[in-house]
Amino acid sequence: MSDEVVLKISHLSKYFGNIKAIENINLEIFKGEIVAFVGDNGAGKSTLMKILSGEYRPSSGEIEIFGEKVVKFNPKSLIKKGITTVYQNLALVDNLDIVSNIFLGYEKRKFMFFLQHREMKMTAEKLLKNLNINIPSLESEVGELSGGQRQGVAIARAIHQGGRILILDEPTAAMGIKESREVYKLIKSLSKEEITVLIVSHNIQQVFDVADKVYIMKRGNIVNQFKTHDTNYNEIADIILGEYAAC
Ligand SMILES: Nc1ncnc2c1ncn2[C@@H]1O[C@H](COP(=O)(O)OP(=O)(O)OP(=O)(O)O)[C@@H](O)[C@H]1O
Ligand SMILES: [Mg+2]
Repeated sequence: MSDEVVLKISHLSKYFGNIKAIENINLEIFKGEIVAFVGDNGAGKSTLMKILSGEYRPSSGEIEIFGEKVVKFNPKSLIKKGITTVYQNLALVDNLDIVSNIFLGYEKRKFMFFLQHREMKMTAEKLLKNLNINIPSLESEVGELSGGQRQGVAIARAIHQGGRILILDEPTAAMGIKESREVYKLIKSLSKEEITVLIVSHNIQQVFDVADKVYIMKRGNIVNQFKTHDTNYNEIADIILGEYAAC
C-alpha cells in the first residue's frame, strides 16, 4: 500500500425522494488498499458503490479519482477514470470462452482473425498468470467454471479494461468456503499489483482476513472505521454486532 490517495470522497449524499440512502460520507482510500464496507441491510453500502460506478448521480458532494474530480456520473466515464465494478454473474457470457470474455467489447481488431485471436490469447494468459488465477484451459466456456474461477475471469477482465480501483459487491455470495478463500487470496494478490479494492460484504470473518481497513455503515453514515492490523476479529465482531444490535 502506498501513501497516494486514489479515491477521495467529500460530503457525499444521496437521497431518493425523501429517503436518505447515504449522507455526508467522507473518506480517503490509498493505492493498493483493500477496504471493506460492512453494515446492516439498507445501510447505504450499495448506493455508495453505485455512485462510484456511475449508476447513480450523487445528490451532493464530490468525488476525486486519481486526483481528478468526477464531473460526469455514468459508467463509461468512471471506467475511463480507472474505477470498475466487477459483476460476478451479469458481465460474463457463459457460452463464450475465457479469452473472449476477458476481451468482451474490447477485442483487438485486425484483418486476420487467427492472428488476432492468438494475440488475445497470449495477453489473457499473461494476465491470468500475473494474477495467479488458476484456470486449466483458456478454451473452456465460462459457463463450465466454478464460482471462484468466474470471479477470477471477471477480475482479469476489469483489469484488462483499465480498472485500477475495483469494486466488488458481495464477491463470495453463494460460494463455498474453499472457493471464497480462493477469491480472497486473489483479492490479496491484487494489492501487490497496486490495484485498490473496495469490497461490500456481510461476511465479517472473511472481511477481517482480507481487508486493511473496515468501514461500518449504518443508516447512510459511516459510524466506525478501523485498521484490521490494529485490532483482532473478536473486537471487530463486538463493534459490528453492537452496531447491528443498536439498529
Ligand atoms: N433506487 C432506489 N430507490 C429508492 N430507494 C432506494 C434505492 N436504492 C436504495 N434505496 C434505499 O436507500 C437505502 C440504502 O440502500 P442500499 O441498497 O444502499 O443498502 P445496502 O447497505 O446495500 O443494503 P443490503 O445490505 O441489503 O444490500 C435503503 O433505505 C434503500 O431502501
Ligand atoms: Mg447492497
